[in-house]
Amino acid sequence: MYILLLGPPGVGKGTQAKILMKKYNIPQIATGDILRAEVASGSQLGQQVKAIMARGELVSDDIMLQIIEKRLRQPDAQRGFILDGFPRTIPQAQALDRLLAKMNNVILKVIEISAPDEEIIKRITNRRVCERCGKVYNLITNPPPADGRCEVCGGRIIQRPDDTEETVRHRIAVYREKTYPLVAYYRQKGHFHQVNGAQSIEKVAEEIDQIIQKNGALPVQGTSRAQSA
Ligand code: AP5
Repeated sequence: MYILLLGPPGVGKGTQAKILMKKYNIPQIATGDILRAEVASGSQLGQQVKAIMARGELVSDDIMLQIIEKRLRQPDAQRGFILDGFPRTIPQAQALDRLLAKMNNVILKVIEISAPDEEIIKRITNRRVCERCGKVYNLITNPPPADGRCEVCGGRIIQRPDDTEETVRHRIAVYREKTYPLVAYYRQKGHFHQVNGAQSIEKVAEEIDQIIQKNGALPVQGTSRAQSA
């Protein structure tokens, strides 16, 4: 199963990707998480992208393509994955098509999640994350422990530097200009579905699951669909 979750910042792509990852045992490939790990490690790439991310701008297509090509070559991505945050531009989508063609013409199912701007801003400005394991909390719907330590790993709970209201508004504008054209791109290719993200996490997950069930390509435990047919 090869899924792409498309949608504006804070709409719940990461939240839903984690649910799918557990349910279907395929990896979540979140380019934002990969970049944040680079920033945290202090690598040359991390130093290069840190300020760009903090401003809510997009990292260059060249860098993103190198990252995604390397990640899709990993063994765990061979029987399925959930893309979260990639592609974000038409050139990224075109490059992804070329990579998928090389992977036995994998068919990507695209699910666009949408929600009104004000809902997104409320969600992101209330988001908190564990700086060590990345677990996501929300001050309104899923508050972190009162001692400010992650319930999973004991790491420090922080607010992402790009989660201020001003930066979120900018990220939404960048999404409209650079990423939203992907809706038309994937709609005309087929295998495109839409979900209303302004519902509870459980309801959004249920609707995504209905799309997956109805449209097939469920992975078979420990093997690929083609092998099991
Ligand atoms: P990235 O990390 O991908 O950020 P994003 O796309 O802006 O998405 P978010 O992680 O902010 O939101 P989400 O949709 O995953 O929401 P979540 O589930 O956490 O990218 C960060 C930066 O990296 C970019 O700005 C760019 O600089 C760079 N970058 C990354 N990929 C790139 C690429 N391909 N090209 C160029 N640059 C790239 O949910 C948000 C909050 O809401 C949480 O608190 C959650 O608990 C809560 N929530 C979720 N669902 C619901 C619900 N249904 N009801 C109520 N609350 C909910």
